[in-house]
Amino acid sequence: MGEVPGEGKDLLRGRPLFLLGFMGAGKSTVGPLLAKALGVSFVDLDSLIEERSGKTIETIFQEEGEAAFRSYETDLLREVVSHGEGGVVVATGGGVVTREENWEVLKKGLAVALMASPKELETRLGEGEGRPLLQRSEDWRNILKARDPLYRKASLVVDTTGLTPKEVVKIIVEALREGRL
Ligand code: S3P
Repeated sequence: MGEVPGEGKDLLRGRPLFLLGFMGAGKSTVGPLLAKALGVSFVDLDSLIEERSGKTIETIFQEEGEAAFRSYETDLLREVVSHGEGGVVVATGGGVVTREENWEVLKKGLAVALMASPKELETRLGEGEGRPLLQRSEDWRNILKARDPLYRKASLVVDTTGLTPKEVVKIIVEALREGRL
């Protein structure tokens, strides 16, 4: 978007915009670009969890287990929303959609799901470094399949396959402008 001061904030009307999607869907790449285009701040939930705990996601999974990680995720999601006045773009972790209680928070904002074909995700994910779920023997495609309907609960679902991050930002801003979100 042409960066019209104030317009982005107006489009969000003080609500947080949540980027949802599977690992590799582009949430952390698109998020800062989208926030800049809208003139609002950006929060990466995974990075915030790492900052607060002083541990990497991988270490949290190893030392405390996935359930503990999910609790941190829910707590911070709630906290971000309570401080989210004036609009903010939030990149969530891929599993945020799996906890029913998180939806109470996600529904208070604008949920946008970034999707991509399994083939494209595979290329983007590489060796899956730093992502504990990709190190397990379970095929990540099964997790993707199980989560697909959960991501589709978002108000806007964007297929990012073959698109650049900039193109994805444009699609989301247009949807906001046209009131489709
Ligand atoms: C997870 C995705 C990761 C991170 C954690 C669990 C998941 O975030 O929250 O490793 O359950 O899909 P990204 O989607 O940013 O990789």
